[in-house]
Amino acid sequence: MTTRAPTLARLARCLATLATGSCLAHAALAHGDVTPQAVDTRALPTLGADWKAENPFRGHAEAIKVGSSAYNQNCARCHGLEAISGGIAPDLRKLDNDCVTLKVEARKKACVVEIDQYYASSVRKGKVRNGAVYMPPFDGILNQEAVWAIKAYLETRREKPL
Ligand code: HEC
Repeated sequence: MTTRAPTLARLARCLATLATGSCLAHAALAHGDVTPQAVDTRALPTLGADWKAENPFRGHAEAIKVGSSAYNQNCARCHGLEAISGGIAPDLRKLDNDCVTLKVEARKKACVVEIDQYYASSVRKGKVRNGAVYMPPFDGILNQEAVWAIKAYLETRREKPL
């Protein structure tokens, strides 16, 4: 319910300006899957306030379940259903592709950790350049558990298995 509050507040503020037509257009856009959705992570181990250097939920069955639903609610509208991009945003099945060809196991592992960090920072800060929001920041909307659960889900959707 709390996720609805900002939308209603925005609509109320907007209507107060009497620019009703454009307000309603925004309200429609902000409806349903377009509003960032809080994710229920109570089924997952808690990770604390400090961000982990790598995905603590790799291969974690419950996290993959939570991550799949969190992905569909928060990311799919741009990155595509089941992570199959329609071209609006990068195809997240390819995220770990650079690591695939590395032959030495230790280097492959380090590569995935590096991608984990890039992933978490992208999701937390979003993608904003020159004032244009390509992707909204999710800090304060998704907790650490939800962010890593989504990565665990995306790892099940990899284009090229490691
Ligand atoms: C409003 C559309 C939108 C939403 C919603 C969105 N993204 Fe993005 N995302 C983008 C775009 C566009 C880019 C590419 C930005 C750029 O050009 O730098 C991007 C980039 C990324 C990247 C970097 C990919 C790369 O190959 O460099 C990651 C990781 C990512 N998004 C993850 C997510 C996750 C996880 C979610 C859901 C929690 C999400 N995004 C929600 C639009 C979106």
